Amino acid sequence: MLVMHFLVVLVLVVNTVITEDLHGQYEIEVWKKEDQPLWDQLSSLQKEVESLKYEQAILKQKQEVMHQMLTVDENVTLLTEGSGPLLFSPPPLWSGEEDEADNHPLNNSRPFYDPCYRYKILDQAWRATNFTTKNVQCDRQRQWQGWYRLYYRRRSIQMPEKCIKANRCGTHAPLWLTQPHPKIRDGIVFRRVCGHWRNKCCAFKSPPIQVKACRGNYYVYRFVKPPACHLAYCADVNTLVCGRCGRNQYCKSRDKITYRCANKRRRKIKKQAVHFFASYPGLLNGKVNRIKFSRVLVNEGRAFNRQTGVFRAPVSGVYQFYFSSQTGGNVPATNLWLVINGYWVTVSHSAVKGPSSIGSLSTYMTTLRKGSEVYVTHVAGQSWANSASNTITFGGSLLVQRKLE
Ligand SMILES: *[C@@H]1O[C@H](CO)[C@@H](O)[C@H](O)[C@H]1NC(C)=O
Ligand SMILES: *[C@@H]1O[C@H](CO)[C@@H](O)[C@H](O)[C@H]1NC(C)=O
Ligand SMILES: *[C@@H]1O[C@H](CO)[C@@H](O)[C@H](O)[C@H]1NC(C)=O
Repeated sequence: MLVMHFLVVLVLVVNTVITEDLHGQYEIEVWKKEDQPLWDQLSSLQKEVESLKYEQAILKQKQEVMHQMLTVDENVTLLTEGSGPLLFSPPPLWSGEEDEADNHPLNNSRPFYDPCYRYKILDQAWRATNFTTKNVQCDRQRQWQGWYRLYYRRRSIQMPEKCIKANRCGTHAPLWLTQPHPKIRDGIVFRRVCGHWRNKCCAFKSPPIQVKACRGNYYVYRFVKPPACHLAYCADVNTLVCGRCGRNQYCKSRDKITYRCANKRRRKIKKQAVHFFASYPGLLNGKVNRIKFSRVLVNEGRAFNRQTGVFRAPVSGVYQFYFSSQTGGNVPATNLWLVINGYWVTVSHSAVKGPSSIGSLSTYMTTLRKGSEVYVTHVAGQSWANSASNTITFGGSLLVQRKLE
């Protein structure tokens, strides 16, 4: 604690030295003389503090812009009710120098602004799919410019993806999307638009419009003039629920009539833990096709079968195995093999003369497919163990999970 205080005081002192008198050679030299590394440390610390301050200022600016954006949003939507589309004035973050008409993603000569953050709000209750009126509207008479986000009474809404009855949406022939809305990863896409009239869902083939899906479960549309009057773009009241979907949700509909918020599926790789360790608690003599390691100490992932002595890889990946034995007595040689999918892959060999005994441990690492079978066989010789010794053992671990074809 004392050291901390000392450092803080030092920083303050150095601070004043720098800010008050940049050419204060004398004082700086004093510091230099006394403790060069400390001085270096402090000046880098100060630089860091400065950059942090700068970052903080930028963040604050951004926050203010966001706040402004939200308030502007509210006021505009309040005013637009029933009137023509009003401009959603861009906050000062985007200096507003560029001409919207030229602001096309294909034109690289101008900066391109993400329409998800730069759109006009179209909040006109008469566009609702359940709205009928004698005072019909025509979108051909509007000057469309740039991108639009649809609202219904201040609530985010989408265009219908289903044919809408004629004389709805405050017009004669309601305009609807014949193709589904894009996903966020699709970016900006073109979508065909049809106008329903006299029992023909596509009596009017309107020019395609551009659509983009945005984070926050909303869409922006680049509307264009439809071919005739009275045609108007629709706002589907059934999609109002989508605006209420949470961060980890998406708006779901099978029939394009009822919409609901559904949770996004988490694409998490299930991390498998696979470890086993078993021993054989007795003597092995001569040929034993498969050692049934009956004393199982660890079987994480339950991939080792104590009845058969076989380990079966539950997932594909890199595995490490080891097996051991203790051999002795007057036998020529003792051989144990590790068998993987029928192949004998590595041997533990020992040969001792006389009454001595020797322990042997072998290891093997390999990539296995899911379902591979591994066991240990005792081919010849003699291995010794009792219930407490754990000298004849077999174990293994999954090191890394891998996707294999
Ligand atoms: C929004 O409108 C309210 C009420 O008219 C007004 O007090 C407020 O200053 C406006 N906000 C902005 C950002 O224009
Ligand atoms: C791109 O913008 C420039 C400058 O406004 C304009 O002259 C040009 O025609 C545009 N090109 C396309 C493909 O829109
Ligand atoms: C249209 O639907 C909205 C949302 O469900 C509802 O609030 C409104 O009253 C309906 N309007 C008519 C004319 O049915």
